[in-house]
Amino acid sequence: MIRVLVTGARGQVGADVARELDGRAELVLHDRASLDLSHPGDIVQRVREARPQLIVNAAAYTAVDRAESQPDEARAVNAVAPGILGEEARRCGALLVHYSTDYVFDGKKASPYVEEDPPAPLGVYGATKLEGELAVQASGCAHLILRTSWVYAPRGKNFLLTMLRLGAEREEIRVVDDQRGAPTSSREIARATAALLHRGAAGAAITAEEVAAAAERRGLFHATASGDTTWFGFAQAIFEGSARRHDGPVRVPRLVPIATRDYPLPAPRPANSMLSCEKLARTFGVRLAPWRDGLDEALAALP
Ligand SMILES: NC(=O)c1ccc[n+]([C@@H]2O[C@H](COP(=O)([O-])OP(=O)(O)OC[C@H]3O[C@@H](n4cnc5c(N)ncnc54)[C@H](OP(=O)(O)O)[C@@H]3O)[C@@H](O)[C@H]2O)c1
Repeated sequence: MIRVLVTGARGQVGADVARELDGRAELVLHDRASLDLSHPGDIVQRVREARPQLIVNAAAYTAVDRAESQPDEARAVNAVAPGILGEEARRCGALLVHYSTDYVFDGKKASPYVEEDPPAPLGVYGATKLEGELAVQASGCAHLILRTSWVYAPRGKNFLLTMLRLGAEREEIRVVDDQRGAPTSSREIARATAALLHRGAAGAAITAEEVAAAAERRGLFHATASGDTTWFGFAQAIFEGSARRHDGPVRVPRLVPIATRDYPLPAPRPANSMLSCEKLARTFGVRLAPWRDGLDEALAALP
């Protein structure tokens, strides 16, 4: 079996990648306690002791607003660490799968972004994630950089769980209706990641030859759920889906669409977060499911 080192293995994407690869590879799982990515020496040591064929970097500084006041912390994890992982991946001949974000763009384009569009991040989080992409590319390792968007899971900190919590507390929720994107479940991201690495029967072991074949197609890819909506549309779908799942009467809050300017946050967000995923489909034959399917699956998995 190939050996896979996963960072951020307790995060939304990291936990689902670990689950998706369980039994199909030998897993070396690291959370912040066992591998703090802000300590470069520890990264080198952990990779060298694991000698993996594949590294999945699912750790990141994801607190978009907090990053504005903690740029050094965000840069250490999002920009410096991916470069070190890249250098170590090259040294041991591993393929590096690294995740990035729609926030590398300023959102001014009228149509979905393609990989060749020039990035122009609006805030510290997006800027440090972009630096991380460039550091992985500069390291010379075989890599798959997957830019995704609006990630949620039935656990963790995300819009889905925030809406359900607010819905239980409030009569009315105001939700931004002028940012478009694709809510993407971490489960779908993990499935897509596995599908890039494995062409055989579902659940079968991933072979070194398959990892080598994926490495041949290295590059930067957009990987979001199919379709798009606004945060307001996502909120509507969350409460509709949640109501469908319960038999008795459910308390559904009144949703009020608002403009971004009426909900000021420390970090500006792109108005258009839509990413075209055609390159991923063309290169690997992989397409993530429609965002409503991912939502239904996450709602069904809620405790
Ligand atoms: N969340 C989104 O909406 C979104 C959107 C687009 C792209 N992405 C990208 O998708 C990837 C996965 O994100 P996610 O949604 O799974 O985020 P997440 O749930 O916040 O998970 C990130 C993980 O990284 C860990 N981490 C943070 N700082 C660390 C450090 N110094 N050392 C080691 N681990 C550290 C966190 O641990 P702690 O819990 O201990 O902090 C957490 O377990 C990231 O590359 C992210 O940039 C996310």
